[in-house]
Amino acid sequence: MSKSTGCCQGFLHYAFDYETPKTLIIPSIRVGFVFRFTQFLLLLYVVGYVCVVQKAYQDRESVISTVTTKVKGFAFTNISNMQPRFWDVVDYNIPPQGDDSFFVLTNMVMTPGQTQSRCPELPTPSTTCVDDCDCVEGYNDPRGNGIQTGLCENYSSTVKTCEPTSFSLLAEAENFTVLIKNSITYPKFNFHKRNILSHINSTYLKTCEFNRQTHPDCPIFRLKHIVSEAGEDFQDMAVKGGVLGILIDWSCDLDWWARKCYPKYTFRRLDNKHPVNNVALGYNFRFAKYYRTAEGEEVRTLIKAYGIRFDVIVFGTAGKFGIVPTIVNLGAALSFLSLVPMLADWFILTCMKKRDLYSRQKSTYLVEESEAESASLSTTYGTQ
Ligand SMILES: *[C@@H]1O[C@H](CO)[C@@H](O)[C@H](O)[C@H]1NC(C)=O
Repeated sequence: MSKSTGCCQGFLHYAFDYETPKTLIIPSIRVGFVFRFTQFLLLLYVVGYVCVVQKAYQDRESVISTVTTKVKGFAFTNISNMQPRFWDVVDYNIPPQGDDSFFVLTNMVMTPGQTQSRCPELPTPSTTCVDDCDCVEGYNDPRGNGIQTGLCENYSSTVKTCEPTSFSLLAEAENFTVLIKNSITYPKFNFHKRNILSHINSTYLKTCEFNRQTHPDCPIFRLKHIVSEAGEDFQDMAVKGGVLGILIDWSCDLDWWARKCYPKYTFRRLDNKHPVNNVALGYNFRFAKYYRTAEGEEVRTLIKAYGIRFDVIVFGTAGKFGIVPTIVNLGAALSFLSLVPMLADWFILTCMKKRDLYSRQKSTYLVEESEAESASLSTTYGTQ
């Protein structure tokens, strides 16, 4: 027999030797235990985690939703250089349209009576002045008594000084309430719902206020309650402003045996309360109110507004029994179970005392009896 035919026969063996599993029964408690225990663990995973926890038999869809809000409440301010005034919703809620993100003014710096005019020369910031052009808005004189408004005010009959700003806090803002209306839909399952649940009537809605223990379904929230559930203090946050998230979770199980679909509210602060470098804290912006004086001159009141922006964020997925995910996940679970014998094989071939016996018995190269005495490569695939 030459070398080249030997190589050829090796390939023939590789290609055409037919392997068929043979049942080897091992009467050992230890092996049996390992096998059944692994099987049990896998079944527990498939039934407990895949079916019960993950609900892998369900079709899923993300929520589509719309939100409108309405803030209520009023506040009163009495600042030294201005008329005492009331603040109602159109003053402090900007814009008053009622979006899913609404701003509530909690603190402001007012600069009343600004007119458009030219300054004769560059202003030199100091606390004494001749007219408004000498005062720079926002300038903080180290020896003065605060940030300046940009106005020149009579200090005495002979001296005029730049007016320092006075912050005015809308402390009552903590008692404002907001009504959140949220409609959701899961189009794939033709499911619609809103957060004003069907058992709520208009008299309840007029008096209720959200409270996790006593009124968990009421869609009216007191701002102070929202902020304190987010772990913040309202009056603290009111000074510099901030952004607060109202999160509505609409995770639903729409199968007829579960049928569970309610909004769950949580609150958290979204902006960074203590940035590392401690600059640009909070949330503020400027806006102006314009009016005409009796002489017909256009005048504005500039307001630097600090406040809390509330963002309503709706999220969630719904699940309902579907035949395709069921089949796919059943297939995956069954193929997992076929891994168990491999693990048991590995156990008997490496961890058992009689592993040599098992390994000898595990696979048999069948030699047909008539050719037993001369069994070799050449007789099996003989080329003669
Ligand atoms: C908010 O309302 C509570 C109870 O009605 C009251 O005790 C509290 O003083 C109010 N807060 C402000 C800042 O007015």
